Amino acid sequence: MNDISAKIEALRRKLGGKCCIMGHHYQCDAIVAHCDFTGDSLELSRRVPHIEAPHIVFCGVYFMGESAALLARDGQSVHLPEPDADCLMSAMIPQRLARSVLEQLARTGRKIIPLAYANTSLAVKALTGEYGGAVCTSANAETMLDWSLRQGEAVIFMPDKNLGNNVANRLGIPESERHVLRIDGRGLLEPEQQPLHKKLLFWPGACSIHSRFRPEFVEDARAAHPGCSVIVHPECRQEVVALCEAAGSTSFLIREAARVAASAPGSALVIGTEENLVYRLAARHRGQCDIFPLSRAICPEMAKVTEERLLETLQEVADGKAPALTVDERLFEPARLSLVRMLDVCGK
Ligand code: 13P
Ligand code: SF4
Repeated sequence: MNDISAKIEALRRKLGGKCCIMGHHYQCDAIVAHCDFTGDSLELSRRVPHIEAPHIVFCGVYFMGESAALLARDGQSVHLPEPDADCLMSAMIPQRLARSVLEQLARTGRKIIPLAYANTSLAVKALTGEYGGAVCTSANAETMLDWSLRQGEAVIFMPDKNLGNNVANRLGIPESERHVLRIDGRGLLEPEQQPLHKKLLFWPGACSIHSRFRPEFVEDARAAHPGCSVIVHPECRQEVVALCEAAGSTSFLIREAARVAASAPGSALVIGTEENLVYRLAARHRGQCDIFPLSRAICPEMAKVTEERLLETLQEVADGKAPALTVDERLFEPARLSLVRMLDVCGK
């Protein structure tokens, strides 16, 4: 154990039940080693209401900390070791622009329900709550899209068009019923020229890490590891997902790796997602099955959380000086509502 790790562990012992460290699966091993809980976005959100500790230190990107703050108990505070770590995709949907687009869509006279991926700011979640919509994660996007479609005449899925297309494929919604909105800095571009009558409208966003994977990467992986299975996160392009054995959330990929390791010893599994997770799974199942990344893929925002920053944050918590993530009072209720709708539909 290095010096910083040892200091973090000493502080964890000192803080005891006063502090809970949570981390997303894309965090590096050095951070995961200090976490009380790791999970995907859905698991982490579900866990928050059950945490007793007055301080939650959240190792992940900003929107995840915001979701934790929305679901935290009264008197509980959420601290981010690196508040600058911000999901690149959530930055593709500024709240003001989202409001303009929802207002333009409302003017069509149709009841169009917003479904916001968890990878959005709290302000966009508040807007979603205000317009009768809900949040989803990659683990429950099918259930939530199905729910949203039953609440109105159409759905605007924000901001990941790749996840949107993959979920629509799973639900059997034809391509002819989908449209990727054309948007500029002010709102919908030439709305009268766009097919806004379609059932499923997509915000034109994507994860720049997962959308880098191309169909030829899957072909190359199959050539390099004959007989392998390839599984990917549903933020990948639909053309990539179409070539794979399966696609699913981070927790799905973890379960699938364990299943393959137990049921097909000696086989090869290629995983397309953030590489911290892939290399961790490769180490976990070494000797049972061979796990390879589809390609190098580091989320630079997740990587901003370092042991040094975690140590500083824990020290600040111990000294009573840790800045807590604050939520604008006006946004709190509608944003919470959009998250609670998801937890209510999908089970807490
Ligand atoms: P999960 O919902 O699978 O945790 O994914 C979050 C994410 O940011 C993937 O890039
Ligand atoms: Fe956001 Fe993509 Fe990073 Fe996930 S991997 S946190 S979607 S930028």
